[in-house]
Amino acid sequence: MGTARARTSMHVDHIGIATDDADAFADLYGEVFGMDVAHEETFGGMRVVFLEADGVYLEALEPVDETTAIADYLAENGPGMHHLAFEVDNVDAALQNARAAGAETIDDEPRPGAWGHTVAFLHPKSTGGVLVEFVEH
Ligand code: CO
Repeated sequence: MGTARARTSMHVDHIGIATDDADAFADLYGEVFGMDVAHEETFGGMRVVFLEADGVYLEALEPVDETTAIADYLAENGPGMHHLAFEVDNVDAALQNARAAGAETIDDEPRPGAWGHTVAFLHPKSTGGVLVEFVEH
């Protein structure tokens, strides 16, 4: 296989979860796993609740607008794990590196995400069937 690529700092930031009820999800994970709500807002037609455990977040995504991609995802797949997000120093550089390595991007350019983050998504068909997000805080 290919040689290891040089890269800047990158670690798992959060796992996105599609849900019909972000608040019920937060209550459940609070009760079962002791996770605390770190941030919540309505953004991009979704109610978004971030739960935190030891520096890694779960991002519960509930559509409040039926035209959102997360609404389509829920209709097709039901609730569950939706995407994997890596925190990077620079989303634009991470996108360029991924493209240079042959990955297909959903977002051509970084864009605003929830919680004031800058984000971009890669296409799951080029990342082993996993929807991958780059996020810059
Ligand atoms: Co995310």
